Amino acid sequence: MLVFAKIKSVQDKLNSLKKGITVGFVPTMGALHKGHLSLIEKAKRENDLVIASIFVNPTQFDKNEDLVNYPKTIDQDLTFLKSIFCDIVFTPTAEEIYENNITSQPFLFDGLEFEMEGKFRTGHFDGVGTIVKRLFEVVKPHSAYFGEKDFQQLQIIRKMVEKHHLPVKIVGCPIYREEDGLAMSSRNTRLSPEHRAAAPFIYKTLKEVKIKFGTKSAAEVCEWVNKKFENHSLLKLEYFEIADENNLKSISIKNAQSKYRAFIAVFAEKIRLIDNISL
Ligand code: PAJ
Repeated sequence: MLVFAKIKSVQDKLNSLKKGITVGFVPTMGALHKGHLSLIEKAKRENDLVIASIFVNPTQFDKNEDLVNYPKTIDQDLTFLKSIFCDIVFTPTAEEIYENNITSQPFLFDGLEFEMEGKFRTGHFDGVGTIVKRLFEVVKPHSAYFGEKDFQQLQIIRKMVEKHHLPVKIVGCPIYREEDGLAMSSRNTRLSPEHRAAAPFIYKTLKEVKIKFGTKSAAEVCEWVNKKFENHSLLKLEYFEIADENNLKSISIKNAQSKYRAFIAVFAEKIRLIDNISL
């Protein structure tokens, strides 16, 4: 496995490859877990060569405290990546990516950016768009892999690729879960034992939502979820929404042609957890 921190080194390596080789790309912020690895394994199955990036992108954090506290486990990350035969890892510094201008570019994602996470994390998706576009310019992958764990991010990247005519195929990957159903996240390790034990309640609720949505209206299901969390002593609901997968708008009336998904954000003390389920 080759590890490069410089744009020029990674590009020299990619330019030296045989013509016609397919390159799969998995951008990450490190603190890798099995969810990330599942993306790399899928990329390995579908491409001749896989490149992962590890870069804690400063422009997508709305609170400096979150950026500073973001877990950094680079040695362990590289061991994991090597064990699953990732070919290349790109680990740039902020200066390498942004030079002297650590700011994000404004994007228009046709309103996707104002829904759900966008209401609670100002500027977050401009930061994501900026870094992902930059990384695509450096790596020039044929395909790039993103988890449905961050479904809004996945749809926003698809929108960016479409609007900017970027020559890359975006592949969505299923949410990888702990045995008890909790969606894997680098934040899970920061939960207290008590909150960790309570957290599978989130996915359990989403699975019940999926059943209820068969017979009940979106409004009734939302009310039911809100009530369930009102009575919960450890988990605080930030939002629960049933939305159209394409425009991410909350729905009031079901329509047979549309695909829906339920989205949730919950606080377990200070740790914010998100999850979603296709309905
Ligand atoms: P990060 O949170 O490190 O996640 C990297 C990728 O792993 C994302 O596509 C995310 O959706 C996916 N992922 C995380 N947990 C997952 C799980 N349990 N199952 C499946 N996929 C999972 O998302 C980011 O980094 C950044 O915003 C990034 C795209 C790298 C831009 O900085």
